Amino acid sequence: MARILLTGGAGYIASHTAVALVERGHHVVLLDNFANSERDVPDRLRRLTGKLFPVIEADIRDVKAVTDAMQAFPVDGVIHFAALKAVGESEADPLLYYDMNIVGTIRLFEAMQQANVRRLVFSSSATVYGQPDHSPILEDAPTRVNNIYGRTKLVMEDLIRDLARTGKLLSAASLRYFNPVGAHPSAMIGETPSGVPNNLMPYITQVATGERPHLNVFGNDYDTPDGTGVRDYIHVMDLAHAHALAVEHIIAQDVSLTVNLGTGVGISVLELVHAFERATGRKIPLNIAPRRPGDVTSYYANPAMAEAILGWKAKLNVDDMCRDAWRWQAKRAGINDV
Ligand code: NAD
Ligand code: UFG
Repeated sequence: MARILLTGGAGYIASHTAVALVERGHHVVLLDNFANSERDVPDRLRRLTGKLFPVIEADIRDVKAVTDAMQAFPVDGVIHFAALKAVGESEADPLLYYDMNIVGTIRLFEAMQQANVRRLVFSSSATVYGQPDHSPILEDAPTRVNNIYGRTKLVMEDLIRDLARTGKLLSAASLRYFNPVGAHPSAMIGETPSGVPNNLMPYITQVATGERPHLNVFGNDYDTPDGTGVRDYIHVMDLAHAHALAVEHIIAQDVSLTVNLGTGVGISVLELVHAFERATGRKIPLNIAPRRPGDVTSYYANPAMAEAILGWKAKLNVDDMCRDAWRWQAKRAGINDV
């Protein structure tokens, strides 16, 4: 049983990870500045799990506040989720992304050193592969950056490797997520994009509630079986479970690793839409639109390393992802026939 601090703890993936950690008997401390999350998330987590979570409202760039938090609640390790994550915004405001993601991470690590916390799990992204030469992608595939958000992830991965190599961190796991979707099956926590969603699944669910008239399919002339982009969608509860196993692994051993977290299955935009229609009985009107600049054609993970090292494998399928994403969005929209 360990005590773990989650930076960005009220966010989408962290809140689900908090549930997975508690289910495995761990204690969780949440730290967030609520820049991109709702203030009642800790209370919803309390109702969902029956546990009270200490909540520290702080910015990861505030070394004193974060050090104080780790001294008040001594932890065995940190899972570092806090970041900005919108690709378009990163290109529009590079300094903001360098500051929040890279400077923020350096400040967090300073606080960890001051509090002598030396075990880390880090939220990386499959975006570090850019457009890969082929899929499934193994962890030793070349990394390529095609936007500033992706670059911040690569810089942070390198920083973590250097800290592990020089003994500043005893152990570290960089987890390269593919495309997280869905929500906890209770529909008590989920993803809350602000404004118009950038990502496919939240957009589909908002079309299903009637908040948006149709889905724009960004390109149907890609070199894929049906012409639309292919991704490896992973249920956020599977992802959450992987974090619990990763944190147990890095607490038990002085090791460092970089692993893919995906299902290994590539799914096109149209396949996801059809799966959603099947799972929910809702029709999604489509509009074929031009390609979105910067999008890659296709990628999906080879998740064998996560299975070999962590004993983790995704269990939930695309129907589960669609059902749970829909339950969450329907509940928020006040639709009760789900
Ligand atoms: P999210 O925005 O829901 O969660 C991030 C949380 O961090 C938010 O609650 C936000 O308020 C908080 N935060 C941001 N800046 C902060 C700061 N300076 N100090 C303290 N708190 C701060 O995002 P998410 O989807 O849960 O993503 C979590 C992590 O996973 C991020 O690092 C993201 O880059 C990475 N990731 C996400 C995806 C995805 O598709 N969701 C894919 C790959 C990687
Ligand atoms: N798409 C549409 N219409 C939309 C939204 C998306 O057709 O309204 C298409 C895209 O063109 C792409 C696919 O749906 O082919 C998936 O797009 P997402 O925006 O959901 O996901 P991406 O793979 O483009 O990017 C996401 C995150 C990145 C992260 C990456 C890998 O946005 O931050 O996954 O984890 F880096």
